[in-house]
Amino acid sequence: MSAERARIREALTAIGAAREVPELARIEREVLGKDGAVGKLLAGIRDVPPAERKAFGEAANELKRTLESALAERRAALERERIAAERAAEHFDPTLPAARIEHGSLHPVTRVVRSLEEIFSSMGYAILDGPEVELDHYNFEALNIPRDHPAREMHDTFWCDREQKLLMRTHTSPVQMRAMLGLTRSGGKPPLRVVVPGRCFRNETVDASHEHTFHQLEGLVVDQGIAVGHLVRSMRTILRCLFRSEVEVRLRPGYFPFVEPGFELDMRCLLCAGKGCKVCKQSGWVETCGCGMVHPVVLRNGGIDPERYTGFAFGMGLSRLVMQRYGIDDIRHLMGADLRFLEQF
Ligand code: DAH
Repeated sequence: MSAERARIREALTAIGAAREVPELARIEREVLGKDGAVGKLLAGIRDVPPAERKAFGEAANELKRTLESALAERRAALERERIAAERAAEHFDPTLPAARIEHGSLHPVTRVVRSLEEIFSSMGYAILDGPEVELDHYNFEALNIPRDHPAREMHDTFWCDREQKLLMRTHTSPVQMRAMLGLTRSGGKPPLRVVVPGRCFRNETVDASHEHTFHQLEGLVVDQGIAVGHLVRSMRTILRCLFRSEVEVRLRPGYFPFVEPGFELDMRCLLCAGKGCKVCKQSGWVETCGCGMVHPVVLRNGGIDPERYTGFAFGMGLSRLVMQRYGIDDIRHLMGADLRFLEQF
């Protein structure tokens, strides 16, 4: 019996000195396993005089519990050591600041589109979307630009088919027609107030102020009694809200087959206060949009009676507005996907 006790005491010392988990498992098997010292000790209870059996059993069980908790404690200690060693190997330093999480940011064009959407919504305009792959009919024909019209030359078109029926839209104006037809075909009548931000495509040679893919924002207002004054006043208000400062505008005559009269609207260059700089090409003015009074033929194509209703329309080049707002002097930055540029926004 005392041999077993000695064996158990030995085991306790070995547990305290064990350096590895498998070593602990081996000791556990030896003392607590089927033919282990504890088992033998407990089996020996038969040879103990009955009066002492209770005390003997209690002492033996106490020893067993001591062994078990010594094993558990040593296992936990070894696990703590293992984690500490692992962290030391990684040079883990909990006092260092956490790694920086990289956040993306909104593209400057998206920012300007969002500002404009907010401004136009507050003025009662609906925001519409239209297809980027468009029918020749909506992009040209219905807008009073027939097949052999010289105005088509301004629109170097990416055609999608040989029959030249399907194209990448060259401007957002086709959505004017879709908006009017959407209203009148469902039995609705003006007033109609919509804006359409979107991508447009032209087969252009790319340079500092031309891109094959660019953004426009189209606007259309149709109601009774709409006149040029409404157009000018609306544009000035919108630009003032967008740039958060008074913006001087001027109208020049401009030709677009879907408006009559048609204008080019310029704004005073904000970057140089009209003195002349690279962005405004030393002129002090920046072309902001084409606009005009909706042509009667276009209203009629849209199912609206031009005798009763008039309207104005405009198409803003968003790239120019973005460049004015952020002082960017090369349009190629906008679609260039250069992180050094994008990270500034
Ligand atoms: N769609 C024309 C373009 O891309 C711009 C334009 C001019 C739009 C006059 C209009 C407008 O709505 O009335 O060149």
